[in-house]
Amino acid sequence: MRNLLNLMEFSQDEVLELISLARAMKKNPADYGSWLKGKSVVTLFEKPSLRTRVTFDVGITRLGGHCIYMDQQNGAIGKRETVRDYAKNLSRWCDGIVARVFDHGTLQGLAKYATVPVINALCNLYHPCQTLADYVTIQEHLGDVSKVKLAYFGDGNNMTNSLFVIGAILGGTVMSVCPKGWGPDAQIFSEAQEIAKKTGAKLTVTDRVEDAAGYDVAYTDTWVSMGDNTPLDAVRARYMPYQINRELLKKTGIPYVLHCQPAHRGYEITDDVMDDEKVSLIYDEAENRLHAQMAVLGTLISDKNK
Ligand code: CP
Ligand code: NVA
Repeated sequence: MRNLLNLMEFSQDEVLELISLARAMKKNPADYGSWLKGKSVVTLFEKPSLRTRVTFDVGITRLGGHCIYMDQQNGAIGKRETVRDYAKNLSRWCDGIVARVFDHGTLQGLAKYATVPVINALCNLYHPCQTLADYVTIQEHLGDVSKVKLAYFGDGNNMTNSLFVIGAILGGTVMSVCPKGWGPDAQIFSEAQEIAKKTGAKLTVTDRVEDAAGYDVAYTDTWVSMGDNTPLDAVRARYMPYQINRELLKKTGIPYVLHCQPAHRGYEITDDVMDDEKVSLIYDEAENRLHAQMAVLGTLISDKNK
């Protein structure tokens, strides 16, 4: 029984297998229609979601399983009853728990007490399912993921942390370009560097946009993550030099753009870049959430993949 809390549970070969299974499922979805037959998966969300909620639900259905969506209106996790009892009860009825939570500790609590796989659907520190879809997209468009150089611009957050983790595992090149004091989590970056020592990955933290010259992919995300009520305009001056726009792409020579979405057009990314089909891989990336998560569900929960 395995969990997916931050992707560090998986080896390079296993992550490459997930990417390849995602692409196989995308190509021939009908071949996998009974992989979750008779299985029920809870999807529990403490925060809003469009992509993650819909793609898990659709993915579970396509694999022949049953999705039970739990918002937090009927008793928030850890409040009406403990995380431990949540995990122990759900494990008696269900075959997997997908959870989007405020605090990574809640996922660790679920994983500790559940007897079924727990999958991180975003927390304050990580968004591993998103980064799997990102690298499915990168492989589709650019080939060998170990050769691709990705630069993340903007606020150092759960996305930045998870991009360093997956980049490290895959032996890739990842740079964060964030204002000083607003970079990735130092502890997670140092763990990713330990992995990078074994895989040959190149990980860099900088605050200078020009350091990303010659990179292949520019990635961005919101300047204010869920759970933080700071208005975007209050941080505009801090992050505006890192906005992905024509000028930044010209300056760095970066040909492709990714964004996990939801996008704040006119803030971290401009309309013209977001809507330029030659440059923006953003909607392919969103589509690939479905295929990447089907691969995760198939690998962790299905009996067919044994
Ligand atoms: N990228 C992403 O996780 O989107 P949602 O917040 O809409 O699920
Ligand atoms: N950093 C963002 C990602 C949204 C998918 C957040 O946590 O809100």
